[in-house]
Amino acid sequence: MRNFDEHSITDAVRERVANAKNPRVRQISDALVRHLHDFIREVEPTQAEWEWAIDFLTRTGHMCDKNRQEFILLSDALGVSMLVDAINHRLPGDATETTVLGPFYVQEAPEVELGADISPDVEGQPLLVTGSVRRANDGPIAGAMVDVWHSDGDGYYDVQQLDETRGITMRARLRTDAGGKFHFWTIMPAAYPIPNDGPVGQMLDAQGRHPYRPGHVHFMIGAPGCEPLITHVFVAGDEYLDSDVVFGVKDSLVRPFEELPAGTAPDGTTVKEPYRHLHYDFALAPARS
Ligand code: BEZ
Ligand code: FE
Repeated sequence: MRNFDEHSITDAVRERVANAKNPRVRQISDALVRHLHDFIREVEPTQAEWEWAIDFLTRTGHMCDKNRQEFILLSDALGVSMLVDAINHRLPGDATETTVLGPFYVQEAPEVELGADISPDVEGQPLLVTGSVRRANDGPIAGAMVDVWHSDGDGYYDVQQLDETRGITMRARLRTDAGGKFHFWTIMPAAYPIPNDGPVGQMLDAQGRHPYRPGHVHFMIGAPGCEPLITHVFVAGDEYLDSDVVFGVKDSLVRPFEELPAGTAPDGTTVKEPYRHLHYDFALAPARS
């Protein structure tokens, strides 16, 4: 076969990949060729634009190392990560909705007692987080592992502190009590820009988009017999709720971080300054068989 033109080349490539032994490889390759060729036919890139695109992907790859994954960021900023998340979390019943993991998760954060302050040396407005974990359409889960992490009041995570003077903070793991409840103290997180000093930042700029995510606290919750839940709770009223750069906001995940005066907090702690209180009840979907 030869003499392909801009129309016949697509079927020629499809025929070639139809020999793949693995049916999933065959299906994905066929769809990739069809959509990629249609995309090229639609935008009709000049040779210079095509070279620019190859250079963009090359720079995206060069930006990746053990601390930075520019390809995931690209997927996030193009809404692909949330699309994959939605397809993989068609959840049953009243299970809590999911969002992206993001790049700032750290495995094996320190396990702390219920009621602990997880950011003792970080300046910021005190925040009490209370909540519970149960099975969807069912009762509380004792001993569920609640992994939390968030930014500081300037929008930075501990792992973004290059001199590492702060160490591990604003993150921890806690286990729910016999009634499925948990609580901890920390500081208010703030809205922040995703890392935008690389190709993804340049893309956002060219598309006339801001790089911000609304303020949020990340949760990863696990319990036997349940699907692990990866989600965030967003700060009600944040100015970026409707324009989150990674398209992660869902109404069911927005809660007031209530402003409260100094005094005795719901967990009995005496607080000397005005503080905030977030409460969220999580429901985990049953594990897929
Ligand atoms: C985050 O919320 O930590 C995050 C998610 C996606 C991209 C960048 C940051
Ligand atoms: Fe985050």
